[in-house]
Amino acid sequence: MDIYEALYTTRMMRRLRPDPIPLDTQARILDAAVRAPNGGNTQRWHFVAVDDRELIRAFAQLFRQARAIEYEKFSAGAGPMVATAPGADAGAHAETMRRMQGSGNYLADHFEEIPLLLFVFAIDDLGGANIYPAIWSALLAARAEGVGGVMTMVLRNFADRVNEMLGVPVDEGWKMSAMLALGYPRGKWGVAANRRPVHEVSSRNRWDGPFGVEVPQPLWPPRDAAATVLPAAG
Ligand SMILES: Cc1cc2nc3c(=O)[nH]c(=O)nc-3n(C[C@H](O)[C@H](O)[C@H](O)COP(=O)(O)O)c2cc1C
Repeated sequence: MDIYEALYTTRMMRRLRPDPIPLDTQARILDAAVRAPNGGNTQRWHFVAVDDRELIRAFAQLFRQARAIEYEKFSAGAGPMVATAPGADAGAHAETMRRMQGSGNYLADHFEEIPLLLFVFAIDDLGGANIYPAIWSALLAARAEGVGGVMTMVLRNFADRVNEMLGVPVDEGWKMSAMLALGYPRGKWGVAANRRPVHEVSSRNRWDGPFGVEVPQPLWPPRDAAATVLPAAG
């Protein structure tokens, strides 16, 4: 697969089929993930693949409770999902949240069917910086394999319980960074188009310096380049 196709279409997929992901596919996903950059190449990461149905049922209960906590925070106007970037369209964000809640409800309601959970642990992940390249590589490699999924953090609300259920050696400093729910998607892959365009979120030489080109449409799939990359209006 073309790298741009993977970059543009690796959406978060929450409607997953129960079909198992073969072990060799899982190996390719994780083997790509461990090639990711990491500070000092210390590789202080550990991935726990969970496909035990009983364990997944237990995580389903915990996930639904953890998600309820996040949505309580959201309705109280707190938590990471509330505020858009300054200057962003609040209406567009509300629409994104509405859609995300719909597909999130599906994931939560069908959690027991998810074929594979991938828990990602790190020691001192530098606020995520040291582990998210590996997570993103895993998701991109999964995309190349036709496997979709979503990165979730809500189970960190019950980190102690997760550690206990998975037997994590917490005394060594391991902490859960994220949990990826992975499976073959029910829906179709599409371009992540609901993003503010490059020229609205980039500048040149100083914060308020125009970036220099405008990108009104996603540049993949390639169209007529002249029609999609416009010189910035003077
Ligand atoms: C740090 C981080 C945490 C996230 N946590 C969750 C989560 O707990 N549940 C969820 O359904 N999606 C989660 N996501 C996925 C985002 O909601 C998703 O990337 C965003 O809505 C854009 O959607 P798209 O990638 O499908 O275009 C998370 C993404 C990141 C980067």
